[in-house]
Amino acid sequence: MKNHVVINADIEKAKINKNIYGHFAEHLGRGIYEGIWVGEDSSIPNTNGIRNDVLAALKNLNIPVLRWPGGCFADEYHWKDGIGPRENRKRMINTHWGGVVENNHFGTHEFMMLCEMLETEPYICGNVGSGTVQEMSEWVEYMTFDGESPMANLRKENGREEPWKLTYFGVGNENWGCGGNMRPEYYADLYRRYQTYVRNYGDNRIYKIAGGANVDDYNWTEVLMKNAARMMDGLSLHYYTIPGEFWTGKGSATDFPESEWFITLKKALHMDTLITKHSTIMDKYDPEKRIGMIIDEWGTWFDPEPGTNPGFLYQQNTIRDALVAGLHFNVFHEHADRVQMANIAQTINVLQAMILTEGEKMILTPTYHVFDMFKVHHDATLLAVDGQFGQYELDGESLPQTSVSASKDANGNIHISLCNLDHQNAAEIEVHLRGINVEAASISGTILTAGEMNAHNTFEQPENVKPAEFTEVKADGQSLSVTLPPMSVVVLAVK
Ligand code: AHR
Repeated sequence: MKNHVVINADIEKAKINKNIYGHFAEHLGRGIYEGIWVGEDSSIPNTNGIRNDVLAALKNLNIPVLRWPGGCFADEYHWKDGIGPRENRKRMINTHWGGVVENNHFGTHEFMMLCEMLETEPYICGNVGSGTVQEMSEWVEYMTFDGESPMANLRKENGREEPWKLTYFGVGNENWGCGGNMRPEYYADLYRRYQTYVRNYGDNRIYKIAGGANVDDYNWTEVLMKNAARMMDGLSLHYYTIPGEFWTGKGSATDFPESEWFITLKKALHMDTLITKHSTIMDKYDPEKRIGMIIDEWGTWFDPEPGTNPGFLYQQNTIRDALVAGLHFNVFHEHADRVQMANIAQTINVLQAMILTEGEKMILTPTYHVFDMFKVHHDATLLAVDGQFGQYELDGESLPQTSVSASKDANGNIHISLCNLDHQNAAEIEVHLRGINVEAASISGTILTAGEMNAHNTFEQPENVKPAEFTEVKADGQSLSVTLPPMSVVVLAVK
């Protein structure tokens, strides 16, 4: 069946918060150390210890917000270990991730410097699981207090006179699991207590994010909303796309049959159901949608690459990951009235990464290219889309073959993102643009696709999968006739 889509250019919905294109970088494996931080004395070209190639690649993505230092690491992180002269900083064991030595060389000052270099908003996750209220409160004072105070003075002694601007602060991470194995009732009370001392100093205004549910733990959302809604600005949600089972075998990142291609995309689409159901609970307590849903961990999670430290969560990234990313963004757009931020796990060398490094070498992944192509949706206005979609079927199961989203930017230009999930068949789509004179418009497009389900970039062949100009689009009256090849992500611009 042909896919028919109507884009209502005159029906504007919510603004797509650019923060849904946010990132997450944890002290895990080679994510921070080697991936971002190489130190000032490294032979890898760097600026104040941050590698230049990665910096340039990330700058190009206009990353709006960056979450740090974890993840599970956050609830074992004691921020005072990561300040002062680096040679004096405590060496500790990263118990969660590979049992390796963490030398604390990348701490608060280095992270804030990175954010300034990237012109991105910092999102800091505090320690509830093994930290004290005082420790959390003093961290906020250290970063944001302007004037005479013990923590502001300490910051100045460490070389930073001005406070930093800090908007996003998470009160713990996965407190149902690695962040303390708590019951929601207990965490709700702790949240209320800890957040009391996360203060707004001077003009700095903190957007407080409560630790939210794991996947479909709707009771967690219910209890948190019931007991702490008025003290939070955001509530998080974590969901990873895992084709297999978490404990018994997640599936390979590159060596998989078509059934795993299909199940991966089906599971990615489950994000839509999760957002809808958690939102319904949030609506009960917050009908005005003041509280943002913050999906601060999402992405594919496969078995680690053979031969690598399993605790480092290093995985390759194929055109399948690109489809997962495109699909997620289209879903996030659809829920733009509630989803205010999302942070892919994780930026470099960990899980669904944008960038992979090997010593001084660096490659961009297919996921990187999707983030790049979708930049046009940052802070744009979501347009209403109606559609009849053909089905993508495999072994008696089915999925919509395509996913479509459209937005209008500040200049009135329309951008349409389309994914063909089907690994075998092209998708013919008739896109009717209601309210636009298509024949007078200029249409251009970019495509990311590949001939093989597991196509990916390597250090030897870094450009196997890269964006190209898309030409399979024709204006036909008020409609566009589009042919998406199998396994493709396309972004069209209508100006
Ligand atoms: O992203 C890897 C880990 O997944 C994070 O540390 C944790 O929050 C989640 O379980």
